[in-house]
Amino acid sequence: MTKDVVLDHVSIRFGSYTAVDNAHLSIQGGEFFSFLGPSGCGKTTLLRCISGFVQPTEGRVLIGGQDMRNVGPNKRPTALIFQNLALFPLLSVAENIAFPLEVRGVSRKNRRRRADELLEMIALPGTGDKKVHELSGGQRQRVAIARALAADPDILLLDEPLSALDLKLRQHMRTELRAIQQRVGLTFIYITHDQGEALTMSDRVAVMNAGVIEQVGDPKTIYNRPRTPFVASFVGETNRIPGEVVSQHGTTVTLSTPVGPLAGQSGGGRDHAPGAACQLFIRPEQLVVAGDGASPNRFAADCTAEEFEGSVQTLHLKAAGLPLRLCRMNAGNVAVAGPGAGALTLSFDPEAAIVLPYGTEADAAA
Ligand SMILES: Nc1ncnc2c1ncn2[C@@H]1O[C@H](COP(=O)(O)OP(=O)(O)OP(=O)(O)O)[C@@H](O)[C@H]1O
Ligand SMILES: [Mg+2]
Repeated sequence: MTKDVVLDHVSIRFGSYTAVDNAHLSIQGGEFFSFLGPSGCGKTTLLRCISGFVQPTEGRVLIGGQDMRNVGPNKRPTALIFQNLALFPLLSVAENIAFPLEVRGVSRKNRRRRADELLEMIALPGTGDKKVHELSGGQRQRVAIARALAADPDILLLDEPLSALDLKLRQHMRTELRAIQQRVGLTFIYITHDQGEALTMSDRVAVMNAGVIEQVGDPKTIYNRPRTPFVASFVGETNRIPGEVVSQHGTTVTLSTPVGPLAGQSGGGRDHAPGAACQLFIRPEQLVVAGDGASPNRFAADCTAEEFEGSVQTLHLKAAGLPLRLCRMNAGNVAVAGPGAGALTLSFDPEAAIVLPYGTEADAAA
């Protein structure tokens, strides 16, 4: 069965410190929902609140329509998977998976049958008699998921479960986790500070900063239509061009900037007054080296360095003193630009740029 989760104006305070500030959203049954944000923004605290280990200071958590106020962690239809998996090294894989059933007094035969079913589910059939140390990191991760599923939860809560794995395995496990979620059809609530994980696996993502949920949306909306400077700068790479509002027509805002007049879309549907200080955010892959045509948003830039990574070429540019990056796929014609090639004309589609007021941004290192 799948159950929805409602966070109804949830705030969590430790003394005078607010770890989660007025979280208000619904997670649908069967959804893969991620909370994405930098270290310390309150992700684990929120997950512990859903699982019942932390109480909201204000607001309510509802699961399947039921208020969880006086429902303890072991009475909730949730299972939590931690970053450190806590598998039992001396037990076999099957015994690890069936452990929650042993606690419930399920017979040995039925435990083994369920463990074998779950091993099929996580694509590790026939490994039940192996010891945990005979498995790879990614395989152990899947066993931890199977063990959480053995308790028949309606909702699986995953706290950065891939962070201990190396990059290649992490990327592989993204596909695996998504496939497991679709096979079991449960609600997965996943927390991570890795935007790649959140974007590739989730139906929807909530981006958190300093306890506040800044935006909730599907991955494409989060990436293409950020509503705040934090979301624009935390999720993916971006260029910023400062400017002053000249005019707004519908959602299209024209700014006067150091590189000339530029147009973009108003982020979050805000109305901007003429003269207001704003920033235009444009992704490196949306900047193009313009031909002679009358493309919009044209301006001059010099190339200061080039990074050639085979499939992708990145140009480091300066336009009116502003550092910019342009990124493009190698289509076999990479000789177009590089340092010393002289002034280039750049352009971008006004639909691809977002205009936002100034506000908190993500650290470059995050
Ligand atoms: N029991 C507690 N008592 C006091 N402060 C706490 C407690 N638990 C968490 N905090 C504080 O709340 C903030 C959020 O912590 P949390 O563990 O939720 O962050 P996080 O987003 O999961 O970070 P990370 O990505 O590093 O795991 C931190 O500043 C932390 O120090
Ligand atoms: Mg955490």
